[in-house]
Amino acid sequence: MSAKLEGKVAIVTGAASGLGLATARRFAREGARVVCADVDEQAAARLAGELAAEGSRAIAVAVDVTREQDVRRMVETTAQAFGGVDVLVANAGIAGVGSVETTSRETWDRVLAVNLTGVWLCNRAVVPAMRARGGGSVINQASIAGLVGFSGIAPYAAAKAGVIGLTRQAAVEYAATGIRFNAVCPGTVVTPLVVRTYEERGGIATGARQSLDDALRANAARIPMQRFGTPEDVASMVAFLASAEAAWITGAVFPVDGGYTAA
Ligand SMILES: NC(=O)c1ccc[n+]([C@@H]2O[C@H](COP(=O)([O-])OP(=O)(O)OC[C@H]3O[C@@H](n4cnc5c(N)ncnc54)[C@H](O)[C@@H]3O)[C@@H](O)[C@H]2O)c1
Repeated sequence: MSAKLEGKVAIVTGAASGLGLATARRFAREGARVVCADVDEQAAARLAGELAAEGSRAIAVAVDVTREQDVRRMVETTAQAFGGVDVLVANAGIAGVGSVETTSRETWDRVLAVNLTGVWLCNRAVVPAMRARGGGSVINQASIAGLVGFSGIAPYAAAKAGVIGLTRQAAVEYAATGIRFNAVCPGTVVTPLVVRTYEERGGIATGARQSLDDALRANAARIPMQRFGTPEDVASMVAFLASAEAAWITGAVFPVDGGYTAA
């Protein structure tokens, strides 16, 4: 395999699970030095150990993306370990279930804090380090829920639309510095976040496998390509945007959704 990211230093937030995990693994295979950043410290450390055992250079950093001091430390630790930052994948996120009327203030604040403010804090923190390198690539994990409406995920959708707006704004603001900002909008990929969303939104009891599978099957049938995505489907797009192949792409928003938003 060609090593698209040879020598690049990449921070992946939310690297301990799902799309972030697949992205961190893919980046390591593409030659990047990977910072596995997650609030789940043990799982991040396990992943970094796994990548290191396969011959990649990887470290784990414990971070809650809503905490400014954690985010600052994540970037400092990266610079100390690897000499700078070339790529940020702002991927950490949580489920956010509730309609406009039923969402509690507490849920709204928490989902916006992680899924939007957390992305902004991470974007802000890497800019000086990337500017010092003469450029970089920031990939913000948005969602098709930031592009089209779904019922029952109001705070999540609002945060994801916010991520898209932030990405475009930053792209224009920093274009001349060589720092590129793009957003990826995955359709459904079955991860712990999606299982939680289905259970909470559909009133499915935790662990009720049959009801969950029925609900998932019904939704997969609405996707033109007739299947959910895989974490690797999304990681491929993220790796492309991180690489020099995407050198003239900034401020763009990419659905990776099996045709869902085209229908
Ligand atoms: N899975 C999907 O279908 C889908 C679709 C569209 C967008 N997304 C987005 O992709 C991203 C990853 O989602 P996933 O499906 O892989 O979820 P996941 O639950 O499998 O993984 C999310 C990771 O983020 C970490 N995390 C949560 N809060 C954090 C915090 N405050 N600070 C640091 N880390 C934190 C978790 O510990 C976990 O490792 C999210 O932003 C999500 O909204 C997912």
